[in-house]
Amino acid sequence: MSDVSVSPHGDDFSQAPRASEETETQIAPLPRISIQAFCETEEFAGMIEEAAADRRLTRTVTKTQMGGMTAALEAFRDKPTPNLLVIETSGARELLFRQLESLAAFCDSDTKLVVIGNENDIKLYRDLLKLGVSDYIVKPFGILTFIRQLSSLYSGEVAQGLGRTIGVVGAKGGVGASTIAHNLGWAITRSLKTQGIIVDLDLPFGTTALDFNQDPPQGVADAIYSPDRIDETFIDRLMVKCSDRLSILSAPATLDRLYDLPETAIDATIDILRSTTPVIILDIPHQWMAWTRHVMTAMDELVIVTAPDLANLRNARNLIQTLKTLRRNDHPPHVILNTVGLPKRPEISPVEFAKTLDAGPLIVSPFDAKLFGSATNNGQMVEEIDPSAQIVSLLSSLGYQLMGRTPPSVVKTGPIGAMLARLGLKKTSLAQNA
Ligand SMILES: Nc1ncnc2c1ncn2[C@@H]1O[C@H](COP(=O)(O)OP(=O)(O)O)[C@@H](O)[C@H]1O
Ligand SMILES: [Mg+2]
Repeated sequence: MSDVSVSPHGDDFSQAPRASEETETQIAPLPRISIQAFCETEEFAGMIEEAAADRRLTRTVTKTQMGGMTAALEAFRDKPTPNLLVIETSGARELLFRQLESLAAFCDSDTKLVVIGNENDIKLYRDLLKLGVSDYIVKPFGILTFIRQLSSLYSGEVAQGLGRTIGVVGAKGGVGASTIAHNLGWAITRSLKTQGIIVDLDLPFGTTALDFNQDPPQGVADAIYSPDRIDETFIDRLMVKCSDRLSILSAPATLDRLYDLPETAIDATIDILRSTTPVIILDIPHQWMAWTRHVMTAMDELVIVTAPDLANLRNARNLIQTLKTLRRNDHPPHVILNTVGLPKRPEISPVEFAKTLDAGPLIVSPFDAKLFGSATNNGQMVEEIDPSAQIVSLLSSLGYQLMGRTPPSVVKTGPIGAMLARLGLKKTSLAQNA
């Protein structure tokens, strides 16, 4: 049984699609603001449109028009200015300063102004800031750099300590998505020695509390249904500690109500958790509703768990394709092919599966009834049952990737190292292939 990543391009991992360097750092979502951009070039106008469609700008209302500074001066003569004004310029410096002075006369005091220009000059930058411009960005720059600059106007230092959200969802029910989510949370908080929380979003049927042998009186539903009351202290009271570093927000797992949630129902809870906890794992139920799609779109990282059969393959492929369009500036979801090698079951081979999926390397997790069965029955994590199990090192390596860190050494981790050596792969190849 293979316990390594399978690349659709065979064993040449260097050919696999790689996440852009830009995606490695955290970018906080922008708040509910109005943005208006005045562009001089079609290129920049295209970038604004693309940025407006990014998951980090879903709360903003963004308008774009051509005409640069002249159009902006014309537009705001008798109209209020938006929260954020982005103006592309190319003219002479003196003219720019004169125009900025005129614009200042119409600008509301809380409007932030970002100027886009061609001159890479620190003196110009300083002079612009002195005039009250919030930022000056020099072309050319990538879409994520642009979004990060805008985001930093609103989050400042908060972005430094911003928690990373990792969503785990199954391509079908029962494929082991929750099991992976819980063990991944366990692996990340232990390997990276960081605080983390698992949020069970499978409200009617979630098993997080059972899997950690807990019986909490309250959980995530109390947060979701009291958006006006939630703050740090309120959420702290709802969670239960499962280890020194890992807590859970459990699902009610009762059927006394229907859980038809509004699209943004989970946002407030996620916002609070992001400001207090370095890693937030969301156990997302296998559903396609407005709110589950919204949560999947909003995640910093996504993991799809699937099994090696045709229906899973079709669903995983559809999910990946749809999420690629919803998250166009992010790398594709990570895929775990779970329960591989179930005795007597005809299966699609990992290499075939990876080829058809066309989403980068797969992580292959073997079927192990004894290990997973004991963990489930005892309310323990698999590492507590067998620390040397393949899935333990796989999830730890994945955890490093998801958190944007390099594992100390993949080869040291036992069976996986031997397997990598046999395949002639470099020891860091697992970590490199997002
Ligand atoms: N690799 C595996 N080998 C054997 N059993 C597994 C494996 N992964 C998960 N399971 C078992 O599958 C069952 C369903 O898992 P669960 O995580 O609840 O699925 P999902 O959240 O996708 O509906 C659990 O009893 C779990 O222990
Ligand atoms: Mg589940």
